[in-house]
Amino acid sequence: MSMVTAVINGKACSARQGEFLLDVADRNDIAIPRLCHHESLRGLASCRLCLAEVSEGGRKRIVTSCVFPITRDIEVETNTEDIKNMRKMIIGFMLAQTPDNEKILQFAREYGSAETARFSEEKGNNCVVCGLCVNACEELGCGCLFTVNRGTTKKVAAPYEEPPEDCVGCGACAHVCPTGCIEIEETEFTRTIWGKAFEMINCSSCGKPFMPKAQYEYLAQKTDMPASPLCADCAQTALAKKYLLKPKYSLPAESGR
Ligand code: SF4
Ligand code: SF4
Ligand code: FES
Repeated sequence: MSMVTAVINGKACSARQGEFLLDVADRNDIAIPRLCHHESLRGLASCRLCLAEVSEGGRKRIVTSCVFPITRDIEVETNTEDIKNMRKMIIGFMLAQTPDNEKILQFAREYGSAETARFSEEKGNNCVVCGLCVNACEELGCGCLFTVNRGTTKKVAAPYEEPPEDCVGCGACAHVCPTGCIEIEETEFTRTIWGKAFEMINCSSCGKPFMPKAQYEYLAQKTDMPASPLCADCAQTALAKKYLLKPKYSLPAESGR
């Protein structure tokens, strides 16, 4: 594997060729703000909070670090005046959209925010339309969420802007939402998301409810699902028992003498 060097804010960081700049910065404890990034999902580059200035081959340019692959030795600055101003502008727009969202207010406290006009049509639901939930639903759920409209009226919705009809209740969208605006409620027997209650199934080993029945049935159509489903903890224990606790050598059978 070829290695390259990214000198980020003066610190030399080695990176695998093709590794994304944001991941390299994270590994080296260099803080770059981000909103639409989730380590388990492909990069979206929609919030543009993770901007950085990259110098390579005598050329400087501003990139979104979450989707910028490092292919050769580069120098990076994450806090130039230009970047600070752009960040403030982006945070200002987000604040104008969702003025009471704690996550965005936290960004504003940390990085500042530029004055921007409030949107006439406030969404009132804390969504900054980062697109992470759509991405999560596509990769981990059943692909029933979309962004609709453009510009200031852009929002997340299911087709025809109804609650997502095909939703299987997996909860991935709520789990990744950085502003916590997708409501999810769990009781012993049900999970409620997008206003719909899903019956849960229980782990066949510990009895804990762990997955909506609709999600299990959806997955069963696509892949082999065990007839006796296990929650993540019990599945891990079962795997450990199978592979780690298996004796390396078995004793010869008793001869019966
Ligand atoms: S609901 Fe959350 S994850 Fe989805 S676009 Fe809005 S802020 Fe992003
Ligand atoms: S809970 Fe529904 S909408 Fe959310 S990711 Fe899962 S399937 Fe998609
Ligand atoms: S985290 Fe990179 S653009 Fe949002």
